[in-house]
Amino acid sequence: MEQERFHEPVLATEIVAFLVRKPGIYVDGTLGGGGHSLAVMNSLRDAGYGEQSLLIGIDQDDAALREAAGKLSEYENCSVLVKGNFQDIGSIVKKICCQRGMDPGVAGILLDLGVSSFQIDTPERGFSYLRGGPLDMRMDSDAPLSAGEIVNSYDERDLARLFYRYGEEPRSRSIARAIVMHRQKNGLINGTQELAAIIRSNAYGGEKIIKTLSRVFQALRIEVNGELDVLRRALDDGIECLDDFGRMAVISYHSLEDRIVKRVFAEKARSDWGPKGVGLREPLAWGDITLVTRKPLIATEQETRSNPRARSAKLRVIEKIPQGGRGEKK
Ligand SMILES: C[S@@+](CC[C@H](N)C(=O)[O-])C[C@H]1O[C@@H](n2cnc3c(N)ncnc32)[C@H](O)[C@@H]1O
Repeated sequence: MEQERFHEPVLATEIVAFLVRKPGIYVDGTLGGGGHSLAVMNSLRDAGYGEQSLLIGIDQDDAALREAAGKLSEYENCSVLVKGNFQDIGSIVKKICCQRGMDPGVAGILLDLGVSSFQIDTPERGFSYLRGGPLDMRMDSDAPLSAGEIVNSYDERDLARLFYRYGEEPRSRSIARAIVMHRQKNGLINGTQELAAIIRSNAYGGEKIIKTLSRVFQALRIEVNGELDVLRRALDDGIECLDDFGRMAVISYHSLEDRIVKRVFAEKARSDWGPKGVGLREPLAWGDITLVTRKPLIATEQETRSNPRARSAKLRVIEKIPQGGRGEKK
């Protein structure tokens, strides 16, 4: 099989199997190179649902939108690709449905979190400590905050807190101190390689250096793109948009993301059984969703061998319960 250069979609077979069950509106909140969207659209077409379905693809990165538009060109008439943030999923869906005179109930939503291979592999985007480039890390090039501004303007305490909270980095304090001392001595830190050298000089040796570099770069990326805050909002809003029995699938790549997904899904799935000891036979109110996957699904060994990115992927899927209780499946 030809290797996808822009981005190889992870768990694509599983995504299609979980999401595609009826004609309707499908939202890909992390369009990327359009690999997952193409698989979903092909499956809808093969099931004979193509004509009655619409894909709404959202990405905040212009390069991703260009790539996906090419990949999805055969579905031009039944897809709308939008530059935007998935935290606005509700208003984006409502606006497009209103323009098209459609009911805004969504049959399936996908969030495949994080950055694409293309973003990591493009040195000018500044996401990787392996490639020399500017300290940028913005997925949306119109966004105001870059990694360079954080590294060069946050004080030592804020940097340490950031590396600890978003990178879970045990040496957060000494790395923050080294950055501030480097700034005082040499002026602004200019690129990924300069930052990587400061981190290297403060990490333990061996393999641990790579882990520290990954954690610090991850922390900066999360802060630049507000990744955890937008995720919480997207989960709430996305579930709200779903039709009865509509499904949402989320692929996360690190524990901070997966913890949020797990917690939000668990909260929304919980039914209200009233005060303890009352012994109701039915809850006062059912949860909004059911967990389709009780435990996160991971990629097969075969997939991780051909696509190393799949190694850390965790997929969780939920289904919306009709308001007013658990009805029969349509
Ligand atoms: C892992 S890639 C998705 C790859 C895609 N599933 C495919 O098959 O090619 C994540 C994409 O989501 C985008 N993204 C991440 N966070 C976003 C957000 N909050 N709003 C919109 N797009 C976002 C990134 O720009 C990136 O293109």
